[in-house]
Amino acid sequence: MRFILYSTIFFLITLCSCKEVFFRSGRKLYIIPQPFSIEYSSDNGFRVGNRLKIIYNGKLEQEATLLAIYLKTTGIESETVQGNAAEEGSVFLSVGIGPDSSEAYKMVSREKELIILAPSRNGLLHGIQTFRQILLREYKGSATQLPAFEINDSPQFQWRGMLLDCCRHFMDKEFVKRYIDLLALHKMNRFHWHLTDDQGWRIEIKKYPLLTQKGAWRSDGKGGRYGGFYSHEDIKEVVAYAAERGVTVVPEIELPGHAQAALAAYPQLSCSGGPFQVETEWGVFKEIYCAGNDSSYAFLENVLTEVLELFPSKYIHIGGDEVPKFRWEKCPKCRKRMKDHSLKDEHALQSYFIGRINRFLQSKGRLMLGWDEIMQGGLAEGAIVQSWNGFDWAVEAVKQGHPTIVSPTSHAYFDYGLNDIDLQKVYEFNPIPKGLSKKQAKLVWGGECNMWTERAPQETIDSKVFPRILAMSEVLWSAPKKRDFKIFSERVSKYYECLDRLGVKYGLERIPVSIQTSAENGKLKVILNTDDKNLITLYRLGKDSLQVYRQQLLLSKKDSLKVQFKRGNVTIDFSLTQILQPHLALYNKVWTNYKISESYAGNILDGKRGSFNFKDGCWQGTQGYDIESIVDLGKMTDIGKLSAGFLQYNNAWIFFPKQVEFLISTDGKKYSSIGTVYTKTGPKDKEQKSQEFELKTNKKARYIKMKAVSIGECPDWHDAAGSKSWLFLDELVVE
Ligand code: ACM
Ligand code: ZN
Repeated sequence: MRFILYSTIFFLITLCSCKEVFFRSGRKLYIIPQPFSIEYSSDNGFRVGNRLKIIYNGKLEQEATLLAIYLKTTGIESETVQGNAAEEGSVFLSVGIGPDSSEAYKMVSREKELIILAPSRNGLLHGIQTFRQILLREYKGSATQLPAFEINDSPQFQWRGMLLDCCRHFMDKEFVKRYIDLLALHKMNRFHWHLTDDQGWRIEIKKYPLLTQKGAWRSDGKGGRYGGFYSHEDIKEVVAYAAERGVTVVPEIELPGHAQAALAAYPQLSCSGGPFQVETEWGVFKEIYCAGNDSSYAFLENVLTEVLELFPSKYIHIGGDEVPKFRWEKCPKCRKRMKDHSLKDEHALQSYFIGRINRFLQSKGRLMLGWDEIMQGGLAEGAIVQSWNGFDWAVEAVKQGHPTIVSPTSHAYFDYGLNDIDLQKVYEFNPIPKGLSKKQAKLVWGGECNMWTERAPQETIDSKVFPRILAMSEVLWSAPKKRDFKIFSERVSKYYECLDRLGVKYGLERIPVSIQTSAENGKLKVILNTDDKNLITLYRLGKDSLQVYRQQLLLSKKDSLKVQFKRGNVTIDFSLTQILQPHLALYNKVWTNYKISESYAGNILDGKRGSFNFKDGCWQGTQGYDIESIVDLGKMTDIGKLSAGFLQYNNAWIFFPKQVEFLISTDGKKYSSIGTVYTKTGPKDKEQKSQEFELKTNKKARYIKMKAVSIGECPDWHDAAGSKSWLFLDELVVE
């Protein structure tokens, strides 16, 4: 054997600094995630013809076969043979001695052979994926000369995952497998399979057939049903497919909340007894497993017993997020459980519930993983925390000595639009939160991107996951010390060719335009900023015809602006609509006395009106506060009308204010009320609505005060009963 693996020496590479030495001709490999080091030499590298021999040592037949499958889809025929050394013109795969946990590999391309070496099977698989990426770009159907290079590579984080929610929208088995393969291509090693939720139970459980007979189907609102589930056979096939690619499938069985589909099938496991239907709306729902009922635990243990038979993963996700305690507060059985076990509140009861499940999983040799809410009321021993509510939870989990997976809504939620999380934002994600020592940081195992599918049926997933997952894979694998987004995006632009060849229908990297407003002589000046020189910006105001944008627009009345793009003659599948409203208070001074949410910090004097997408950046949100805003118009001004725009979307805990009062002042000290406005929409109205709380007047004033009174906590009938509600305001309009 010509290549001996000095595993300990070679795999110390992570201690060196990252390097990339360019090939003399300037030719470069574009690999995502970026390998730890690539060194090019001026010799000829390996030549790839339309036939290849793959030689593998030891028991690597499965890995060699996988490579042969990839080669075939690239257009290269191959044969696989066992052997101990490379032969001229062959690809040689070798696994030496090293810990299985090592995911490092080394790849050498030279004239006579291409060699992939690794201390473990998982490392070798990563090398195979690197080779696949190289061929996806370089191989064009006839013999292809690769540069001579040596890659030494290994990951920064051991946990590199993606969640796919198959409950809100069901995803075909073949689609799921395709995603697992795409994860493997980018060296992501955990497929977090969200299998149960309020809107559908997706995993066959033989002991409880109603879970899939009833729980897997919901009304489609048109007289039919929507849903589906994975049989034991389906799951075995998916798990085996993932294992062949070095991907661990981590199943998520939600408890004690997000359980309405299960309770639709077995209502006796709830506090109230039901009946329930599989939920057809999105949100958080109050029907959860009864914590006082022993049959809840027996049911979940039986379910998990079948889950453990199907999933070899050491880690089992039990959800634990978003558990309204409303039913538990009122349930005699839950109250008795709390009393019997001296549990001081419902959070402690949740901790008790999850603690029992944790002990069950541990007794079977598995480890429990749960969303950060499992910390409420005390974290179960040995549990792994997946933080999503923000970095603080990750810090707390680590400080308590628990391994943590970081997937914050700020960077890792791929169901969010590009205005919240674009490619650059993902690339800026650092899974290690501030405030941890080096030693503590070791407990941060890695991160995940989460693809929730409330608004994402299967055919839209590619455009939401790609290209953002490219940034996530690099954050988790390469952990660039100095992140240079510009260099990364250059590599991404070269990489699209590979995605094209794989048929990935990727979306945009960012919103291609920003709409900048300002006040100009009583009008609203609008500038459309685009930084992509390849795009032609088109716009339409109201019912006017579409035209090419060349210069700023000046609006003197409320209008709707639609922006679209072309690349050459091709219209891009993306448009933006913005309602714009000039008024007298544009960009004036404003004071507020409430806590504005960091996530919903829209400007209320920018002339940009909010849409029904409450994350569109135009809305200003506050949770648990009344609103009081004061605007200084700069001088005494004639006022004809005052209005404040609010949103109601009670599924998202956003309600219209109970009342809105307008006051005026000449000196900013003494205010007099000019009237109070109410809404006709009750809080129970489930429709998304916006309303102008408006008042006509004919007064002169310099200062205007608007006071909006929140309804307070979500009411008893609401699924988040008792939680603080939100007020959402988009604009304070003075006319
Ligand atoms: C979550 O997004 N509810 C974990
Ligand atoms: Zn109960």
